[in-house]
Amino acid sequence: MHVLLVGDGQLGSALRNVFEATAQHELTIWRQPTFDMTLPDTADRVADLAPDVVINAAAWTNVDSAESNPDAAYAVNALGPKYLADGCERCGAALVQVSTNEVFPGSSGIFYREYDQTSAVGTYARSKLAGEIAVTRRARRLYLVRVAWLFGSGGANFPAKIIDAADRLGALRVVDDEFGNPTYAPDAARAIVRLIETGRFGVYHLVNEGWCSRHQFAQQVLACSGREQVAVTPISHKEWQRATQPPLHAVLVNQAAAALDIRLRPWAEAVEEYCRQESVPAH
Ligand SMILES: NC(=O)c1ccc[n+]([C@@H]2O[C@H](COP(=O)([O-])OP(=O)(O)OC[C@H]3O[C@@H](n4cnc5c(N)ncnc54)[C@H](OP(=O)(O)O)[C@@H]3O)[C@@H](O)[C@H]2O)c1
Repeated sequence: MHVLLVGDGQLGSALRNVFEATAQHELTIWRQPTFDMTLPDTADRVADLAPDVVINAAAWTNVDSAESNPDAAYAVNALGPKYLADGCERCGAALVQVSTNEVFPGSSGIFYREYDQTSAVGTYARSKLAGEIAVTRRARRLYLVRVAWLFGSGGANFPAKIIDAADRLGALRVVDDEFGNPTYAPDAARAIVRLIETGRFGVYHLVNEGWCSRHQFAQQVLACSGREQVAVTPISHKEWQRATQPPLHAVLVNQAAAALDIRLRPWAEAVEEYCRQESVPAH
């Protein structure tokens, strides 16, 4: 297969590593600054290249700054995917659109399956949902893949922020009433590659197995990085001021990919692997 990979962030670079390690597929990578998917000629460029599969791993991912930059967030998260889908339809390529658990309202006690009703609240979530709708209307050969709480090498992700704050402050306060699924980018990348090799289009939730609170996630990061002595006080989300409040219980269930025997390892094991790979020495 000729795969066009768009974006080279946490997930994009993890996908690049998987493709380069296996060398089973021809790989083309488009990234900024030579490629900007918010430009309408994106559709022409995809159609001209005519790959077999396009994987969109690019997005506006800063949830808080999306609130003050809605036009830019919508351009990247909704218009860009629309142009990619138009290009895919013109050349017969399949499209992998990556989305988020935040397209769900996050009602307490609900675990969201692939076919559950979406309802987004903040600007980031609404822009990602607009992207889902745009590609669903256009691309007939579509894998819509939702991930959550993504962390991978070099990213400005939750584990990296916890380690940094632990070393700077010596003690932490972390929200214990927001729940989700930590998703290790290399595990999600391997699962996406397995998925496109099945040729079974559809909606998928590719998250590490299990779920937890932000507080439990932080505790596991500190334990695995040799910082278990750092105190972590549990607090309510109401005590943590931010520009927007993500859904408190947008916990995903992987039912569709599991039916194809595609499952990601338990999240706590993935955190262990991340800490080993990053090998961030405790001060
Ligand atoms: N991070 C999370 O916690 C999380 C949670 C749930 C879902 N997701 C979804 O998972 C996917 C991957 O997220 P990630 O954390 O890997 O993202 P990331 O690390 O922030 O990387 C995003 C990539 O998109 C690129 N990009 C931004 N605007 C672009 C444009 N106009 N044209 C081309 N490329 C552009 C960025 O380029 P530059 O580096 O040059 O800006 C970067 O390579 C996204 O769809 C995201 O919405 C993420």
